[in-house]
Amino acid sequence: MLLENKVIIITGAGGGLGEGIARVCHREGARVVIADIRGEAAQEVAASLGERSLAVTCNVAEDAHLQNLAAATLAHFGRIDGLVNNAGVNFVKPFLETTAADWERLISVDLRAVFFLSQLVCRQMLQQTPRGGTIVNISSVHSMLAYPGAGPYDAAKWGVVGLSKAIALEMATQGIRVNVISPGLINTQIWRDLLDAASDAEAVRTHWNANIPMERAIEPEEIGELATFLLSERSSSMTGANVFADAGLTSSLVSKEPYSIRPIEGE
Ligand SMILES: NC(=O)c1ccc[n+]([C@@H]2O[C@H](COP(=O)([O-])OP(=O)(O)OC[C@H]3O[C@@H](n4cnc5c(N)ncnc54)[C@H](O)[C@@H]3O)[C@@H](O)[C@H]2O)c1
Repeated sequence: MLLENKVIIITGAGGGLGEGIARVCHREGARVVIADIRGEAAQEVAASLGERSLAVTCNVAEDAHLQNLAAATLAHFGRIDGLVNNAGVNFVKPFLETTAADWERLISVDLRAVFFLSQLVCRQMLQQTPRGGTIVNISSVHSMLAYPGAGPYDAAKWGVVGLSKAIALEMATQGIRVNVISPGLINTQIWRDLLDAASDAEAVRTHWNANIPMERAIEPEEIGELATFLLSERSSSMTGANVFADAGLTSSLVSKEPYSIRPIEGE
């Protein structure tokens, strides 16, 4: 098993991608801390995993909650070997209408919390025996490409890559590795809601698939496998990397959607 007895904190693990990552880490032998602002959801995931799991209610936007998360983990498991900063929120709103409150709400969860929880966890990793650990930060294909109306999300997800590289450099000789996963479209509630809300769900699926070379959404546990690899010794040479797990999305110059415009031809 890749993570036998490792103590791994996963934020936003009460559902979606975080739950998928937690399930794979647990299957690989880890002791997992399911942290989520939705305490009941975190409890349900932990209960379904059974032993080697702990649920902690945590709003990552609150510093006191981050401190409590680290303290609860230490009280229960005695050390911290890994952290997955996964909790995230998103919205789409025109740039000209976005307010300071919109900006702060998103940045506090998607960027600020990644910095301060990593800081808390690194301090612990440096003082425990054996020393060190690994951090995996969940960004997005928005760390390379932008979407109209998603400026704060784009800024946060690009920012996660920059700060991960900076922390990776500072910790490189201290036994702590920091890497980023940038996923493409994942089959989580937001995607299912989009399909449910559409008058023609198949047309929505076809549209998205035309922009994804593998023509499908990614399952949370597929990203969980990659996170497990990055948390484990198998990735011992990797730090500061941003790994795209996007079913080809960022490799394609053009959509596969049919179009009527005449292709540009060389002259
Ligand atoms: N779904 C996708 O297609 C996709 C693609 C790329 C990246 N991501 C990223 O993956 C991560 C997880 O996304 P998801 O699709 O699973 O979303 P989701 O909404 O399904 O799950 C997010 C989880 O985080 C929790 N959460 C929200 N705010 C929180 C807070 N302040 N404190 C603690 N927990 C909080 C929610 O309760 C929920 O359980 C996010 O960082 C997101 O940006 C998602």
